Amino acid sequence: MAKELIRLSNCCMSFDDNVVLDNINLYINDQEFLTLLGPSGCGKTTTLRIIGGFQTPTSGEVLFDGEKINDVPPHKRAVNTVFQRYALFPHLNVYENIAFGLRLPKTDPETKKKVKLSEAEIKARVTEMLTAVNLTGFEKRSVTSLSGGQQQRVAIARALVNRPKVLLLDEPLGALDLRLRKDMQNELKRIQKAMGITFIYVTHDQEEALAMSDTVVVMDGGKIQQIGTPEDIYNEPKNAFVADFIGESNIIDGYMRGDGVVEIFNRRFACLDKGFAVNEPVDVVIRPEDVDIVPEAEGQLTGTVTSVTFKGVHYDIIVDFYGFKWLIQTTDLSPVGSRIGIKIDPDGIHVMKKSHYSGMFGDYSSYSEEYEEISDANYDPTEEDEGDSNEET
Ligand SMILES: Nc1ncnc2c1ncn2[C@@H]1O[C@H](COP(=O)(O)OP(=O)(O)OP(=O)(O)O)[C@@H](O)[C@H]1O
Ligand SMILES: [Mg+2]
Repeated sequence: MAKELIRLSNCCMSFDDNVVLDNINLYINDQEFLTLLGPSGCGKTTTLRIIGGFQTPTSGEVLFDGEKINDVPPHKRAVNTVFQRYALFPHLNVYENIAFGLRLPKTDPETKKKVKLSEAEIKARVTEMLTAVNLTGFEKRSVTSLSGGQQQRVAIARALVNRPKVLLLDEPLGALDLRLRKDMQNELKRIQKAMGITFIYVTHDQEEALAMSDTVVVMDGGKIQQIGTPEDIYNEPKNAFVADFIGESNIIDGYMRGDGVVEIFNRRFACLDKGFAVNEPVDVVIRPEDVDIVPEAEGQLTGTVTSVTFKGVHYDIIVDFYGFKWLIQTTDLSPVGSRIGIKIDPDGIHVMKKSHYSGMFGDYSSYSEEYEEISDANYDPTEEDEGDSNEET
């Protein structure tokens, strides 16, 4: 059974007159993997610092197991942190860096006596962590001789070796290349499950957030925009910001004409959304992979392909519908200039309330120009006779 461990209740944070967190409400369950996701400056690190006790919120409460801990200092919280800029001890080798926290005397919560671990116990724990982060054999290496990725793994091992109840991780994989990053994502997830530790993880990488988390908290401008499972956030974004930030989205102005009927470009589409006012203006999200291409005569809408980019598994095509450009992903080739029809199943349409983000996202006009250059250089079957594309590049 999920048990609540940490709660932020109406937390606000201001620096001088600058509001950095605006009424954050959030709870984290025991053993959950929760990710704070959002663009640079949205308040992720500040939120994490409040949970870790490095910052006291200007107003609001921080609760641990139901008790208010606003004034409890970091070392008295059952929380360890891997900082965005982690600092290893440069004069200690890998083994001693990881063992460091284990050598500090601890107070036994029951007897209140100071306890020290034996060297044998320390060795067993460090060895276990070295295996977990894939650094077996690196014990004696100086940390300054390690690559960025290896240093980062030492930092993670050092934070985990104390077996904290909660681990706070601030962009811990930021310095790694893509391949190592993916490996470490799997590794961290495995360690988290195996050790039963609650992870609160910060990233601005939406793919990473979707791949690793039980729960994703999407933030922007110091506010929580949405909390949900990765599937919820992707399939049912709450507003245009979330739809745009998570994955690719075409976002089109529409009107609800009744439950299950939305109108875009003066055409009615069946959808699954209900509960809006009749004729309410809405934002309609259509994911690029949810659009079926059909012959022009059979289309619910018809448009002109303006660019094609080969992506390996599929093509990204930009299609102009009445001056609004959509991104569509398809495995069938529709050459530039061709007229196509599209069909969208009711579950491929997602209707959102208007918000102050409306109109800011979801139009691929600017992408189109970049794409046109790329696709002209690589591939354009309509230009066989003209033969003016390859020579010019
Ligand atoms: N000590 C401080 N004094 C003044 N402003 C601060 C302080 N700490 C953070 N801020 C401001 O608060 C806002 C949120 O910062 P925060 O570090 O939480 O962002 P973030 O989401 O972690 O961004 P990034 O992805 O770039 O790390 C920023 O505008 C930042 O400049
Ligand atoms: Mg940060």
